[in-house]
Amino acid sequence: MVFSLNLPKLTLSGEGAVTESVEVLNNRLVKKIMIVTDKNLIDLGVLDSLYAALDKNGFVYVTFDKVTPNPTATLVRQGVDVYVKNKCDCFIAVGGGSPIDCAKAIRIVTTNGGDICDYDGIGLVKNEGDFFIAINTTAGTAAEMTSNSVITDEIRKVKMVIIDPKQIPDVSVNDPLLMLGLPAHVTAATGMDALTHAIESIVTPGAHTLTKPMALEAVKLITKWLPVVVKDGQNVKARAMLADAQFLAGLSFNSAGLGAVHALAHQPGATHDLPHGVCNAILLPIVSAFNAETAPNAYRAIAEAMGGNTSQLNDCDAANLAVALIEKLSVEVGIPSGLKQLNIKHSDIDLWIDKAMNDVCMGGNPRQPTADEVKSLYTQAL
Ligand SMILES: [Fe+2]
Repeated sequence: MVFSLNLPKLTLSGEGAVTESVEVLNNRLVKKIMIVTDKNLIDLGVLDSLYAALDKNGFVYVTFDKVTPNPTATLVRQGVDVYVKNKCDCFIAVGGGSPIDCAKAIRIVTTNGGDICDYDGIGLVKNEGDFFIAINTTAGTAAEMTSNSVITDEIRKVKMVIIDPKQIPDVSVNDPLLMLGLPAHVTAATGMDALTHAIESIVTPGAHTLTKPMALEAVKLITKWLPVVVKDGQNVKARAMLADAQFLAGLSFNSAGLGAVHALAHQPGATHDLPHGVCNAILLPIVSAFNAETAPNAYRAIAEAMGGNTSQLNDCDAANLAVALIEKLSVEVGIPSGLKQLNIKHSDIDLWIDKAMNDVCMGGNPRQPTADEVKSLYTQAL
């Protein structure tokens, strides 16, 4: 069977990567760029280096700054209007997963027509679209290099997971200088999201020789550097290491797939607008304990990558060690201990079970849970 490893055409990583990404545009015929971002990032000065580089090189642009966390189909439609009315022919997204996913979705519709809800699913995008630079400002989703976008359909109250390699940006940018102002709690949540990407992509049956070493390296780097960055957000080296770690996790899950943690986490994210990384972090040890028997070698490797010594342990104890190390890291970086702390009630769980069972990520899990088992996993997460 042929394995497909999907990557951006160009990846820029390190201090000054934003300025270098604008240099790339000098070799192209670009008339007007649409920058897709979140207004808070502009107010915080995160886009200053990008605007300076665009102005210096004489590029014309319009900024669509209406993106909020968990972007909706309505927002995507607004972005499409701005792009078309301004006759844009290039995208630059700046932000975490939300602005980058929103730009991916706008690009799908401006290129292929119809409505974004028409593309909910796998492989439904026909044409790639205009040149696209994605500048990451968090170290978590790896949206700057993945085939996925997650858009909330407010009518159906579901998070659509649109999966198609044609969404992968042409240029993927990680510049740690843009990440220095990220608050500690957001750093923690996005870092735990990246850890979840790495771990789910190691234990999935879709894991491959080309992806597992990247994911294990990501686990090692996140375990080492996430607590450092949460304590000292101004540490440029630690920010850079974490950015590279989440990129490696993205490289792995983008081609290997995810699993039940994401399938379950998408539902409270959609119905209660909860932060994706926090939902993942709470569910990760619980789902890992559920999966352990079906992927013992994978959990042993994860425990080792997190600094544990499994040489004297049987499979069950090695997996338990991996679960304990995940929980320890979560506590260290200040993740809430359960969904109750996020005002979730027991009665909310019933809203999520069917949607979690049918979530596109569930198929990648090494053990397929029954509806009762999904309910039990959510109950443990309270
Ligand atoms: Fe994620």
